[in-house]
Amino acid sequence: MLNNKIIIKTKSKSYPIYFGHGVLSIIGKLINKNLPNIKKICIVSDKKIPQILLNRLCKYLKKYNLKTYRLSVNEKTKNFKVVNKIVEDLLEDNFNRSDCVIAFGGGILGDLSAFISNLTKRGIKFINIPTTLLAQVDASIGGKAGINSRQGKNLIGTFYQPDFVLTDISMLDSLPHREMICGYGEILKHSLILDRNFFLWLAKNAKKIIHRKNSKLLKKAIIKSCKIKSKIVKRDEREKNLRMILNFGHTFAHGFEAAKNYSKKLNHGEAVLMGMMCACQLSFQKKLLPLKELILIKKHYLDLNLPMNFKKKFNNREITKIISFMKKDKKNLSEKISLILIKKIGKTSKQNNFTIDPNELKKFLIGQNI
Ligand SMILES: NC(=O)c1ccc[n+]([C@@H]2O[C@H](COP(=O)([O-])OP(=O)(O)OC[C@H]3O[C@@H](n4cnc5c(N)ncnc54)[C@H](O)[C@@H]3O)[C@@H](O)[C@H]2O)c1
Repeated sequence: MLNNKIIIKTKSKSYPIYFGHGVLSIIGKLINKNLPNIKKICIVSDKKIPQILLNRLCKYLKKYNLKTYRLSVNEKTKNFKVVNKIVEDLLEDNFNRSDCVIAFGGGILGDLSAFISNLTKRGIKFINIPTTLLAQVDASIGGKAGINSRQGKNLIGTFYQPDFVLTDISMLDSLPHREMICGYGEILKHSLILDRNFFLWLAKNAKKIIHRKNSKLLKKAIIKSCKIKSKIVKRDEREKNLRMILNFGHTFAHGFEAAKNYSKKLNHGEAVLMGMMCACQLSFQKKLLPLKELILIKKHYLDLNLPMNFKKKFNNREITKIISFMKKDKKNLSEKISLILIKKIGKTSKQNNFTIDPNELKKFLIGQNI
């Protein structure tokens, strides 16, 4: 059942990710091994995960003193009110530093629960059980913990690495197709920024992965993606330089999401896919990315019917809003907007190297006809 493990090494902490089908059932064993002093566990779970899975998790953990939340999840859940409520509850129940929070959900609950674990008594134990493809290939790795602000996405947060991650691929069985596409966006991102061969492999296999036709391929894509991200996080845990390349497409995406007020009409992964396409177009326009590479990427999007054209979702009036949110991005060091572009499939421009005047970017977005 448990057939893979990788170790994520960062300056602050090293921890394992366990992969496999049905590995949820060994959670008790893994806690005994990695965190033998836990007495109390708080599970922060997503309402859309089938109840039977939550019941199963609780059964595996029955020897612990359990506290459970089942939350309706959307970007607005990533807020101080929710954090405050859970932290206060944990304090009231006298959770100690040796006790634990488990995130049982996608990237939203992962970011939120990591933040809660970090703030409670300056840090209690944290286990992540990602249940979306996006969280399995991306959000559960690297320790970004945080919430959204009215001023923009993920603007309030810390870094807090988990004690371990348990990636059970069978959790994806109940995931809607739309969410599979979103997760695939981050897999594709990892190939575009760092691994051309992986991109070529995806070009052959992505249909089967997205449609869950072959679980071996799906697992291979998840593990490969985690390895790429862990390589980056190992070298730059705090996003001082190299880690910024993971933001490829994301500055656009955060602008798109915020301009739509984080509505379900556009979710994070879709925004990322459209944002990456904008970044590719801009890379081409700035003569960084050759036309034949751009064509290859567009073909990939078209073959898989991936969300590509943000213009289908936004009118020109909304572009001003997008730009105003992009100006507030954490990576910007001046009035200009910092972006990660690519030079070819598998290679980005240097982080912090490309900045653009907001007016020029606005013209670029208005002129897009993807
Ligand atoms: N920390 C990081 O490094 C990092 C990286 C990438 C993204 N993120 C964050 O992750 C979030 C996006 O993550 P996401 O796409 O997983 O979103 P999400 O957590 O909202 O999950 C997507 C949808 O799937 C549902 N869901 C979750 N698990 C399910 C299951 N097993 N079956 C059926 N439905 C299920 C959720 O209710 C939600 O509707 C964003 O807030 C983004 O900022 C963080």
